[in-house]
Parts: sequence; C-alpha cells; structure tokens
Amino acid sequence: MPPEIIKGLKDVYFDTTESSFIDGIEGKLLYRGYNIHDLAEKSTFEEVVYLLLYGDLPNKKQLADFDSLLRANRIIPDDVIQVIDLVKTGHPMDVLRTAISALGSFDPEVTDNSVEATIRKGIRLTAMGPTIVAAHHRLRQGLEPVAPNPDLNHAGNFLYMLFDELPDQETTDLLDVDFILHAEHGPNASAFAARVTASTVSDLHSAVTTGVGTLKGPAHGGAAEEVMKMALDIGNPENAAEYASNLLDNGDRIMGFGHRVYRAEDPRARHLRDRSKVLGEKSGHPEWFQILQHLEENTMQPYRSKGICVNVDFFAGSIYYLLGIPDDLFISIFALGRIPGWTLQCVEQYKDNILLRPLTEYIGEMDLEYTPIESRS
Ligand code: CMC
Repeated sequence: MPPEIIKGLKDVYFDTTESSFIDGIEGKLLYRGYNIHDLAEKSTFEEVVYLLLYGDLPNKKQLADFDSLLRANRIIPDDVIQVIDLVKTGHPMDVLRTAISALGSFDPEVTDNSVEATIRKGIRLTAMGPTIVAAHHRLRQGLEPVAPNPDLNHAGNFLYMLFDELPDQETTDLLDVDFILHAEHGPNASAFAARVTASTVSDLHSAVTTGVGTLKGPAHGGAAEEVMKMALDIGNPENAAEYASNLLDNGDRIMGFGHRVYRAEDPRARHLRDRSKVLGEKSGHPEWFQILQHLEENTMQPYRSKGICVNVDFFAGSIYYLLGIPDDLFISIFALGRIPGWTLQCVEQYKDNILLRPLTEYIGEMDLEYTPIESRS
C-alpha cells in the first residue's frame, strides 16, 4: 500500500497550540483567545506583543514596563549597521534576514533556548527590527541612519527613523493597526519554517532568520507588493476588469486573494479595506482603492463561492503606498509585525519539542549500476 501523501501538508495538524485560533470557514481569528477585531480597534501593538508572549493582557503597570523595555532595546550594534551597509544593494528582506542573523552574534543569550530567554530575545528582535529596516532604507539612499526616538511608540518610531520626520498620530495609528493584524497567524509557512529550525534545538535568531526568508515569497508575504504593482499597472478603475480578466485567462492569480486556511474573507482584511478607502479619499487618491474595490466586487466575485476571497495583503499595499513607503519595503513591514508571532511559535515548539521531519515517498529509479565517468556517453 503506498503511503497517503498530503501535498503541502494541507489540513494536517502537527501539534496543539494556545497562540491563535483560526476558523477558516467562519473567517475568525483569535490571538490568545481575543478576537482580532477587538484587538485591531481597541488595542496597541505593544499590548498585543505582551499578550502573545505572556499569554494575558497586561495591566497598566505591566504595559508601561513592557513598552519601556521595547523602547530601551531599539538600538542595534554599530557592527550590524556596517553589515547592513555592506549588503545595502540587496532587497530589504534579504538585508533584514542578514541583519537578524548578524544580531545573533551579538546577543549574549543566543544559545539559551529556555522559554524565558527566548521571550527576552523575541522582545529584543521585535524592538530592533524597525531599526534595521529603517537604517537600511537610509543607507541605500546614501543617508545616515536616524537614531531611534524613545518618545515615540513602536509604529511612530519606525516611521520617524524611516523618513527622519515626526509622523502624525493618524499615520502612526494606521501602522500600529497594520502591525497588530500581522503579529501572529498560527503555523503559516514562515512560522512553520521557524518551528522546523527551532525543532532542531537551534536558536531563536536562526529561526527568525528562517522565517524572514520564507515570508519573502509572493505566495506568502510578498503579495502586498504585487497587489500594488498590479494596481499601478491598471492605472484607473475603468481598466480593472479587462486587466484582471486577461490575467485570469492566462492562468495567473490575482494577488491578495485566496488563502490556505480561509474559505471566507480573511478577518484581517476588513480593517485595512476601511482604512485604505479613508486614506485614499483623504490624500486625494481614491483611485487605488477604487481599482481594488472593483476587482473585489466584480472580477473576483464569482471566486467567493470557491472560497477565494480577499486576504490581509489585498488592501495593505495601497495603504503603504499612500504613506509614501517604497514598494520593496512592504514585505519587511509584514515581517516586523510578525516577529512576536515567530517567537511565540518557537516558544511553543521548544516547550514540548520533537524534531519536525516528515517523509516523502520515493518514486525514482532503484538500485542502478554505477558507471565510472570515463564510460558514460
Ligand atoms: N487568484 C486566482 N485563483 C486562485 C487564487 C488567486 N489569488 N488563489 C487560489 N486560486 C485558485 C487556484 O488556481 C486553484 O484553482 P484550481 O483548483 O482550479 O487549480 C485553487 O484556487 C486552489 O489554489 P491553491 O494554490 O491550491 O491553494 P493554496 O491553499 O495552496 O494557496 C495561496 C493559497 C495563498 C498560495 C493562493 O491562494 C495564492 O497564490 N494567492 C495569491 C498570493 C497571495 O495573495 N498570498 C498572500 C496570502 S495571505 C498572507 C499570508 O498569511 O501569507
């Protein structure tokens, strides 16, 4: 009897979890039991990171202390700035991956895989991630990196370091929500990859480096960039229908639609849809939202019955674009939001570890006779 092959490990359960709950049929997402809609509308990224890493919502003092800890850990070693400078012509995700890997050489707890040390390292990586991405963006433009500003929250400080300008509250809040929505999502491809690394009893820096490399692909984190490229190509809402039909007729996919787990709308998309609309109108560029809306409500409408609906990335790109963020930084923003999720997934893996090592059924030739190279034609 040949073994049952479950391609893509679709619908395979490999462990239990207390991190997030996803109901793909209902389109429901909970972080540590709390609904993503409540967290997106009422919480902050700092609070959500605390919730994910410690399992409970913080009280005022706990949150204040945690926020101070994040602010105090934003500075990255000068040597890592030099590493970033050396690889600055690379894609921002390649640079982020390299810099996180380099940070491992400077972290005094790098080899300590205890739950406590892993959480401490996850907090440091969460705090330092924006400094890496912003420093790289400055260096590649021939500018000096902007030092972190301890008076600003996580999202506001990232925008400040990126543009060397104090962001307004609305923009800060937009990015804060975006980080919340991306913070954790179960054993998705990058988190699973991070867990595979952790399962070998390797360290968190290695696991997060794996996560960044895996998130980079267009089937996972790269979709927001692709969606905005498509919207720019379409140019105006009247062209949307023809452009999208041509893509689909060619067998291509509309980026920002479909999800391995959701058969209903990705619950995270709603918060970015509303904000993309408002931001487009406010900034005098409603056309990007209109193009996306047209694709969602017309071209992709028949796909809903097949369970192919908008995902978190569909409206994200239009928001980043309107905030003046270069398109090759879109995935990095996803990664910055996801560092706490990767950390939590690794903590769960370490707690009850077993090496993650599936099988493939061999279907190649057997027992071939080895021919010396001189005798081969
Ligand atoms: N546009 C058109 N058709 C699609 C799309 C799409 N975006 N996504 C899936 N399909 C079709 C696909 O062609 C296939 O049809 P058929 O059965 O006739 O061959 C069917 O839906 C199932 O697709 P699949 O690739 O087997 O499904 P999957 O669960 O392996 O793929 C996915 C999930 C996210 C890779 C896929 O939906 C996709 O490529 N979407 C576009 C990329 C994207 O937006 N990625 C971001 C995901 S959300 C962020 C995150 O959490 O990672």
